[in-house]
Amino acid sequence: MKISFAELGAPKAGTVIVGVGEDRALTPVAAALDKEAGGALGRAMASSRFTGKKGQLLAVLAPANLAFGGIVLAGLGKLSEVDALALQALGGSVVAHLNGAGESEAAVQLGVIDGARLSPAEAAANVAFGARLRSYRFDKYRTRMKAEQKPTLKKLAVQSDAATAAKKVFAQLDKLADGIFFTRDLVSEPGNILYPESLADQAMTLTELGVEVEALDEKKMKKLGMGALLGVGQGSVRPPRLVVMAWLGADDKKAAPIAFVGKGITFDTGGISLKPGAGMEEMKWDMGGSGTVIGLMKALAGRKAKVNVIGVVALAENMPDGNAIRPGDILTSMSGQTIEVNNTDAEGRLVLADALWYTQDRFKPRLMVNLATLTGAILIALGSEYAGLFSNNDELAERLTSAGKAVGEHLWRMPLNEAFDRAIDSDVADMRNITGDRNAGASIGGVFLQRFVNGVPWAHLDIAGMAWSKKDAPTVPKGATGYGVRLLERFVADHYED
Ligand code: BES
Ligand code: MN
Ligand code: ZN
Repeated sequence: MKISFAELGAPKAGTVIVGVGEDRALTPVAAALDKEAGGALGRAMASSRFTGKKGQLLAVLAPANLAFGGIVLAGLGKLSEVDALALQALGGSVVAHLNGAGESEAAVQLGVIDGARLSPAEAAANVAFGARLRSYRFDKYRTRMKAEQKPTLKKLAVQSDAATAAKKVFAQLDKLADGIFFTRDLVSEPGNILYPESLADQAMTLTELGVEVEALDEKKMKKLGMGALLGVGQGSVRPPRLVVMAWLGADDKKAAPIAFVGKGITFDTGGISLKPGAGMEEMKWDMGGSGTVIGLMKALAGRKAKVNVIGVVALAENMPDGNAIRPGDILTSMSGQTIEVNNTDAEGRLVLADALWYTQDRFKPRLMVNLATLTGAILIALGSEYAGLFSNNDELAERLTSAGKAVGEHLWRMPLNEAFDRAIDSDVADMRNITGDRNAGASIGGVFLQRFVNGVPWAHLDIAGMAWSKKDAPTVPKGATGYGVRLLERFVADHYED
């Protein structure tokens, strides 16, 4: 789908989309179109349930006096509350609708929206951004798709009084979409295609954007003492990797960076503590945290963000075989702390233990944020509405929460406390990777990770409920969501750029 910006004007073909506020309040362009159409829009609304509520769409056949074929009314809700997210949702819903209807070209006419909270240029750019986000597909392995299964929309024009300025704003958002699409692609790939080495190769492609990328192999990790990460990887014929990405965009290349760390289990069978068979295929997206970190690096480098950022991803495949770690095994992490592995399926915290320690030790970052599909327990607590946020720093937690609100990727803070921390003490090692029960499972994961951050301001985002979706949302088609890229891009933009 090609997206373009143009001044307002009636197209010769295709569908025209106009916005309508709550209680059927026509925006100025919608009113003008209604007049040209001899009142057809008003009549169509009057004979339907369409009232202009946010998210509603009403398709109307264009009367014969107009050159183009169709009109879609798109509900905007209260016009005084129209914001970037509402316009992104409009763009996304329109794309989904037109693809379903078989349309090939369309123009969104966006005139002035009275009282809207953003400029005409920002409004138009956000419609386009939402449209692009919803147009994402992962079809590369579908060789026999029927014509009616394929998307039809080839061209979408966003018309406004500020086309030139809108194009500029969109250029930045487009880079963000590139990062999100990269994450979605990585998370969608199955475990036979995407494994630690091939995922490391994917991260390497960021060198084209000026990101420095380095992959540590087993030998290097052994030398560094990363017994926890290596332990998880040792049951697979596909060797683990630790990939370090550096984007140094600040004026002072030596200024302390901020760091993002991702769990990258390219497939999680559970290991010797094997998972049940039903649904195990979902564990191809257990590298979602690292997918987000890699996509974020792409988004930041793509728009040449003026900030120093380090991305570290801990990549391993959790498999059961003759060389796999066993329940009861004791591993020595890079920090020197020993871990009794009582359940090989609690592997994410093990790989992150070494990745977090390494990151703070080597880069002395201002702060670290890790992302991980860490626990089923966070899904029980928060479903797919919020990712869990665990932090040792209130200011950091607040900044992350607000960034999430601004982009519609929500976080909910969960507790870390001393009792949880004591619960992972072990009788035979410095700690164990699970407790004896399922209580507070997500927080237990959090306090485990906290033992490896060495006091650095840190947040852990448990995205187990967010990395993958079973249903379409306005700007996120079902499947890999790319959750976290927008949130962290905003977090960086709002607080850490020169
Ligand atoms: N990758 C899983 C967590 C997960 C489960 C993500 C379901 C998405 C959906 C993780 O490695 C895991 O297996 N966690 C265990 C921890 C338990 C053994 C303490 C879990 O949540 O059951
Ligand atoms: Mn697991
Ligand atoms: Zn896992």
